Amino acid sequence: MKVLLINGSPHRSGATFRALKEIIIELQKEGIETELIQVGMHSVRGCKGCGSCRTHELGKCIYGDDPVNVAIGRMESADALIVGSPVHYGGAAGDITSFMDRLFYASGGFPYKPGAAIVSCRRGGATSALEQLNKYFMMNNMPLVPSAYWNMVHGNNAEEVEQDAEGLMVMRTLARNMAWMLKSIEAGKKAGLALPPNEGHIRTNFVRDLAAGQGDDKDSKYKNFAPYFTSYNKVNKEYQEDE
Ligand SMILES: Cc1cc2nc3c(=O)[nH]c(=O)nc-3n(C[C@H](O)[C@H](O)[C@H](O)COP(=O)(O)O)c2cc1C
Repeated sequence: MKVLLINGSPHRSGATFRALKEIIIELQKEGIETELIQVGMHSVRGCKGCGSCRTHELGKCIYGDDPVNVAIGRMESADALIVGSPVHYGGAAGDITSFMDRLFYASGGFPYKPGAAIVSCRRGGATSALEQLNKYFMMNNMPLVPSAYWNMVHGNNAEEVEQDAEGLMVMRTLARNMAWMLKSIEAGKKAGLALPPNEGHIRTNFVRDLAAGQGDDKDSKYKNFAPYFTSYNKVNKEYQEDE
């Protein structure tokens, strides 16, 4: 079992890294493999909304000059994702926000793989940054992994975070909960527990059914939204093959 961790901080060994390190050590104690990708030092462009990833069902972003596609590739074999970011102006840092937008839009997300976010800050804005990052998981069928308190540490750098005993306890607890969830999923799989049925994705934009009137064929109703199903079908297939 493997967890992919993303450090969205511009500081390779800063406060966010210190929190992630606590998680990595604890995951490894639980026998879970880990891989860390440093994202925050790169200039990560935002999603241009070109839609190529979906129109052509690429499964990746057309921009390949930053770690987005690397992470999509790594998630093929990873069982879970943890993302960390410093708080910048009460939200997640700019580069990690761009990274997460493109990671999830291009890949379609990683359904049924547990996800968690952690943040570091000097003083305030941690809960809104955490909420921002949790949304990527929540809208992509990814179970959120909890801890004993909110997933945040306080400090301007790694040394200050070292003094945040409660924050580090929250990180270790998160890691053990992640390991427990991964082992539970594995046990469920072995016991023959199937994934929940997929009823397809209905998109309405509140005012109308986007797919309505696009042909008389009943089965074509959601045809144009095939990319939205890709990731679910893929993970469902892998699930069956594992058995
Ligand atoms: C552009 C910028 C904006 C920041 N905004 C906040 C903020 O809103 N609240 C806060 O508590 N700290 C803020 N900070 C401080 C960082 O969140 C804090 O130093 C963080 O722990 C650094 O993590 P790192 O070493 O992983 O980069 C900001 C720092 C920068 C560079």
